[in-house]
Amino acid sequence: MENQKRIKVKALLGLKSFSDEILVKGWVRTKRESKNAVFIAMNDGSTVHNIQVVVNPELFREQLLKRVTTGASIAVTGLWVASLGSGQTKELQAKTLKVLGDANPDSYPLQPKRHSLEFLREMAHLRPRTNTMAAILRVRHTAAFAIHQFFNDKGFFYFNSPLLTTSDAEGAGETFKVTTLNLEKIPLDELGKVDYRKDFFEKETNLTVSGQLEGELAALALSEIYTFGPTFRAENSNTKRHLAEFWMVEPEMAFYDLKDSMDLAEEMLKYLVQYTIDHCLDDLTFLEKREIEEQKNMPVAERSEQSLLDRLQFVLASNFKRISYTEAFQILRNSKPNKKRKFQFLVDNWGVDLQSEHERFLVEKHFKKPVIIYDYPKDIKSFYMRLNDDNKTVGAMDVLFPRIGEIIGGSQREERLDLLTKRMKEKRIPSVEMDWFLDTRRFGTVEHSGFGLGFERMILFLTGMSNIRDVIPFPRTPGNCEY
Ligand code: 4AD
Ligand code: MG
Repeated sequence: MENQKRIKVKALLGLKSFSDEILVKGWVRTKRESKNAVFIAMNDGSTVHNIQVVVNPELFREQLLKRVTTGASIAVTGLWVASLGSGQTKELQAKTLKVLGDANPDSYPLQPKRHSLEFLREMAHLRPRTNTMAAILRVRHTAAFAIHQFFNDKGFFYFNSPLLTTSDAEGAGETFKVTTLNLEKIPLDELGKVDYRKDFFEKETNLTVSGQLEGELAALALSEIYTFGPTFRAENSNTKRHLAEFWMVEPEMAFYDLKDSMDLAEEMLKYLVQYTIDHCLDDLTFLEKREIEEQKNMPVAERSEQSLLDRLQFVLASNFKRISYTEAFQILRNSKPNKKRKFQFLVDNWGVDLQSEHERFLVEKHFKKPVIIYDYPKDIKSFYMRLNDDNKTVGAMDVLFPRIGEIIGGSQREERLDLLTKRMKEKRIPSVEMDWFLDTRRFGTVEHSGFGLGFERMILFLTGMSNIRDVIPFPRTPGNCEY
């Protein structure tokens, strides 16, 4: 067995015929015993599919077969032969069987049955071994790969923005502080304030909320770049769509106006969907079935009208609806749920921020397709967005998706130095600290735009999962930072 080359389950299932003896390693999903044979469903994570191993109990010690339990790791050699049973066309007829690692059934937490997602969240260290989580992780990998493929093919450069920074790109004050100061004995300055000069970086430092500002520096040199990395936000929102640590994809393009940027966003989203269908159909089919099962226990009103794959196809086939904030505002103000006071946040005055209930109404009920809203009131958007000629709105755009709401946020950037510094003053952003950023506007400034895709929100859409905690290996949310 030792000198044989192991073959992965995915490769094995793709083989039409194979006459030599093979070696497969993986974990036991289930074991079923009949009079003349023991059937083991085995999985190695390379695919959602298991292979069936057939063991003749007369050829193996009973003691060994007893150790073949759910979760145990095994190595099997044998012949890949036509299966007599239904459910699989081929099976592995075991010649040798070795238990690599036992999984005591009295203490192994995962049983061969459906566990609730809540239970699995408490068990995040073992949940990659479930079909659902493994499928999600494969989709996640594929989508990440597709992002690099998409941008590389277009000549964009992958740019690494820092995670440790002294700036707050969104200016929302939701940063996690980074310090090596002794929190039991914080040094104070002459004014009695924390003396950050004594801290590691000799400055107040935090984890980044976005790589955008550094991305802009690169775009104004390389023309088209994208970042793809973790971002951190200490917003205290315990929702199904928010994480304190999430991954963001942030392309930044010189010489793009807002419309160019919307075109790119729509093209990228469709590419990601198509790529995932092309490369993960087995996993998507599994996740679609999972969702159908789950929805059986849900009230009819909460069930999704379309199946997962239909929703993905639907996005591919639709032209995203593009409307201005003002148009969206009018539709929402005159909408039934607003008039009947069904919205939690009523839409009454121009300038109100749109909530996820409003976004989902526009996407799911009104237009029934993805929507891009642009030209938002300047007061509800970040300082770096380009002021429109009306002096009231900025060149912002949000892409809204069914079941998700906002999946992308972006804008054309304010490239005019005087207007940018004026906005920073209004928003009380100290320009001394941001001098490096302003240099891009001082020297060779150009029209440019960019956006940020919330990677986990994309994975939510691709997998049909409804809670963002289930599409990242180790979710960080208020009160949760295990592992
Ligand atoms: O709209 P946001 O805040 O935009 C930015 O950060 C810009 N700097 C992007 C840019 O123009 N380069 O965030 C972008 C996206 C949102 O649309 C959402 O999908 C996701 O990031 N996002 C979150 N995802 C999970 N948890 C959170 N707490 C998130 N906050 C934002
Ligand atoms: Mg946003």
